[in-house]
Amino acid sequence: MTSVPLVDLAAQQDQVAEEVALGWAEVLKATAFVGGPQVSVFEKEFAAYSGVRNCVGVANGTDALELALRALGVRPGDECVLPANTFIATAEAVVRAGGVPVLVDCVEDTALIDVDKIMEKVGPRTKAIIPVHLYGQTAQMEEIVRISNATGVSVLEDAAQAQGARRNGVTAGGLGDVAATSFYPGKNLGAYGDAGAVLTGDDTIAAKVRLLGAHGSPRKYEHTEIGFNSRLDTLQAVVLSAKLRRLEAWNTARRAAAARYGELLGDLSEVRLPVVLEGNEPVWHLYVVRVPERDRVLSELHAAGIGAGIHYPTPVHLTGAFTSLGHGPGDFPVTERIAGELLSLPLFPEITEAQQSFVAETLAKAVR
Ligand SMILES: Cc1ncc(COP(=O)(O)O)c(C=O)c1O
Repeated sequence: MTSVPLVDLAAQQDQVAEEVALGWAEVLKATAFVGGPQVSVFEKEFAAYSGVRNCVGVANGTDALELALRALGVRPGDECVLPANTFIATAEAVVRAGGVPVLVDCVEDTALIDVDKIMEKVGPRTKAIIPVHLYGQTAQMEEIVRISNATGVSVLEDAAQAQGARRNGVTAGGLGDVAATSFYPGKNLGAYGDAGAVLTGDDTIAAKVRLLGAHGSPRKYEHTEIGFNSRLDTLQAVVLSAKLRRLEAWNTARRAAAARYGELLGDLSEVRLPVVLEGNEPVWHLYVVRVPERDRVLSELHAAGIGAGIHYPTPVHLTGAFTSLGHGPGDFPVTERIAGELLSLPLFPEITEAQQSFVAETLAKAVR
């Protein structure tokens, strides 16, 4: 058996190559590299797909989070509540917007934010709650929206890993006040470089994000506030439109692959399989199991040519970047414990049964 990568972008590239080449030829001819008509075409398509009124393309997912927080009115010293178990960008964006990240532990089975621990972190300075739809399944949004309604705190979904995921029939991006997503190449909907977007049903938030991402400029050479340069490139918009047409089929294929892992690994008592919350339709951005002696198991998978990974090895509060938060080991015990057990197995729409069987057999040998 040859190697099995964690994600196989080449397989996806083959499917859209022709469409992208045709679209890019038009962009190159028109030389509208920034702000070409393809950008607003994609924004409309992705807004419609996500079931919200507005999509604003930006340069990457971290900018999408930051600009969304600024549009929500986060001011220096305002607190934003987010899970300790997330990619660092969720917390980074809060600091970049001038805010203070306030972390919450995750729950044991799904690794998602523990909604029962949010309220104790909400205080007079809290401006936003940022649930992260980690690994491709949405957080328990009803409880978060209930807290938001009761306290007036806004909800920003970090939907970077959840394009097309649904909770009780509602697509990620339409479950809070505003959402940020990333089109980093390995995401379910990935560009050919960095790209991101903000989704919202609120026209005022959308207009503010658009203004901030374009040098605070509502019209050429008129600048009403200090902004940023954070726009979705026209060439990336072409790629994203081509891939969006295939996203549902790709997400369906990911679900089938996740179900197959469930069958292949179901009898291994040493392997804890991912748990899906009732009401969730995940898109399996990552297929994350939990195993004892994870580092040894991971090395054995790597030695066999399997591109397994860890998402994430170090919880936000234990990274060097966030020592200023003043946390230490033991502050978020569930997040810290599972950080030593998490193991992401290869999963992408085109993964074959043979590849999955090889992963399962190698994993079975490694854990026994
Ligand atoms: C949960 C989460 N939030 C935010 C980001 C940041 O996105 P980007 O890398 O496009 O800045 C990512 C992905 O990288 C992510 O996985």
